[in-house]
Amino acid sequence: MAESTHQGHLGAVYASKNPEEISSHYDNWAETYDSDMSIAGYRHPSICLALLTRHLPSGASPLLDAGAGTGLIGEWLNILGYRTVEALDISAGMLAMAREKGVYQALHQMALGNELPFEDNKFAGIVSAGVFTTGHVGGEGLDELVRICQSGGVIVLTAKKSLLDTDIAPKISQLETQGLVSVAEQTEPYVSMPGEAGTEPSCGIVLKVR
Ligand SMILES: C[S@@+](CC[C@H](N)C(=O)[O-])C[C@H]1O[C@@H](n2cnc3c(N)ncnc32)[C@H](O)[C@@H]1O
Repeated sequence: MAESTHQGHLGAVYASKNPEEISSHYDNWAETYDSDMSIAGYRHPSICLALLTRHLPSGASPLLDAGAGTGLIGEWLNILGYRTVEALDISAGMLAMAREKGVYQALHQMALGNELPFEDNKFAGIVSAGVFTTGHVGGEGLDELVRICQSGGVIVLTAKKSLLDTDIAPKISQLETQGLVSVAEQTEPYVSMPGEAGTEPSCGIVLKVR
């Protein structure tokens, strides 16, 4: 069966047509996700961490890992001195794996793109690795992240280049025009999974919230 391979899982998640489909695909993938991504040479968490440490001092708190998955970033955030981190993800299966790592103060099963039940200005920083991509979340997910991030805080995200060009960059321009964010940094395009043939490039982006 195609989904028993990690290529099958990837194909399925990219082809997801609605939030129910995507959460169910990730539920099915959760147990082998970490080892599959390790084999694929998955880079988004490292890129996000590098960007975060350049723009947010160690110890800044609290942080939100938006689309935390199994908690790959949460483990490393703790090592780097960001010790108060909450996780949000649409997939209960992925969050169950994240919970086992014991690095998040709270875990929230909910969907980006919808209203989020956090107060304005709650988080000093938000990180979202591998979430703004095909079949997952587009520019519509940014409004709420901006609302719940403190003024002076940062939102670090990765975005698949094709989606960035057509959907996310126009949304960021709109947020800039509204005076809500500025782009502090954007990386050159890079391939997020060098071990995976045909992976489309992505960019890392740092938004400074005004
Ligand atoms: C490629 S994984 C990345 C997980 C983790 N950030 C990492 O880098 O390992 C994408 C994650 O986004 C989650 N996701 C997809 N659509 C979502 C949505 N609308 N709201 C919240 N999470 C979503 C999936 O469940 C999955 O855990």
